[in-house]
Amino acid sequence: TIADLKGIKQGRLRIATVTTTKYFMPRLLGPFCNTYPGIDIALEVVNRDRVLERMARNQDDLYVMGVPPDDLDIVREPFLENTLVVLAAATHPLAGRSDITLDEVAKEPFILREHGSGTRLTVERVFRERGLSLSVRMELGSNEAIKQAVAGGLGLGILSLSTLHADPRLDEVAVLDVENFPIRRHWYVVWPRDKELSVVAKAFLDFLRGHVDLLTHREPVPTSA
Ligand code: PGA
Repeated sequence: TIADLKGIKQGRLRIATVTTTKYFMPRLLGPFCNTYPGIDIALEVVNRDRVLERMARNQDDLYVMGVPPDDLDIVREPFLENTLVVLAAATHPLAGRSDITLDEVAKEPFILREHGSGTRLTVERVFRERGLSLSVRMELGSNEAIKQAVAGGLGLGILSLSTLHADPRLDEVAVLDVENFPIRRHWYVVWPRDKELSVVAKAFLDFLRGHVDLLTHREPVPTSA
């Protein structure tokens, strides 16, 4: 058929992606679907623990996360920077200060993501390594809600830069200049090593590799000012 001659790919692509990627993963889907009109996509947006559960049950073609597990035989391919920053209300006394120590921020009340979130996991590792524990004033399962609570002065937050406008002032928050931060990591596309990728999954992988520029519209340099 003509479709075969043109190499047109058809079918259903299933991707499970962690919540924090909702700020950029969907941007790829428009251009991808325009290129491959025969492919329809199911995008599951859940926290890291749920993504890992889905992977254990082989429910999707590809998985996207910031903290791939160490103990599974998987392929992990970094495709984008994932930078974690400490946030405070723009009016917070620490906003605008430089060289804030981890000990100092550990004294502040925090609004953190739920257990099972990759963001939470990373934050706890950083402070545990320094023998510090955080005082969690509130736990919220939504980056957006955390941003609002931080802007409202409830406490400090730690989120991926992906959740913010290029100019964080538009979010009414300040990125703090804290020791060990920003934490620069990556977003990874992941799949079990023994999994035979479908034709549509391979098409998506290639598209992702070739169109990272669609995802990098925001990489603000964190400033203390
Ligand atoms: P989260 O995942 O949205 O579950 O916090 C982020 C991550 O895996 O780094």
